[in-house]
Amino acid sequence: MNTKKQKATQLQKTNTKWSKKCTCGLKKTATQAVHGAGNPSAEIVFIGEAPGKTEDKQGVPFVGASGKFLNEMLAEIKLKREDIYITNIVKYRPPNNRDPLPGEKSACRKWLEEELKIISPKLIVFLGRHAMHNFFPEERISESHGKLLIKKFAGIPTEYFYSLYHPAAALYNGSMRKVLLTDFKNIPKVLKEIKKKI
Ligand code: URA
Repeated sequence: MNTKKQKATQLQKTNTKWSKKCTCGLKKTATQAVHGAGNPSAEIVFIGEAPGKTEDKQGVPFVGASGKFLNEMLAEIKLKREDIYITNIVKYRPPNNRDPLPGEKSACRKWLEEELKIISPKLIVFLGRHAMHNFFPEERISESHGKLLIKKFAGIPTEYFYSLYHPAAALYNGSMRKVLLTDFKNIPKVLKEIKKKI
């Protein structure tokens, strides 16, 4: 088992390698690559869609309005950003925050897989349908949010996945916000259940 320090070094190497190697077309318009951040030994990895304007500027994921909301939800379950790891399926900001294209998602996929392999989390939480569809294209977020999805993928260190509505989508939508808050509060229970199984 690698230590937290060893994992941090491995993540740094992976990010340096992929920042050069990644063929994502968004490199041309983005300010910089937004690397994953947080605890390299986290039990839970959150995966978002793509960096927004603030993230592109600062080079850190989830630091804008949806990041602030995410921090509040984490605090509700007694977690800090330093306890979890957070990354995106696409590492570069799409112009005007448009949805990432299939080619952009697949260009960044190996990078994401390497991050996950190093961290080796027990649970992967998808923030929004784009992140979920990257692994479960057949699922609908309106049906699978708040449910544990179990599936083995080659090269992915956990088979446990949990989908949430994207914080940005739920921020100003009262009913979606309520659902997201309820699903989020269930995360510790979900993790406990997983630990019983493994
Ligand atoms: N939304 C995302 O999906 N990712 C970020 O990093 C910020 C906002």
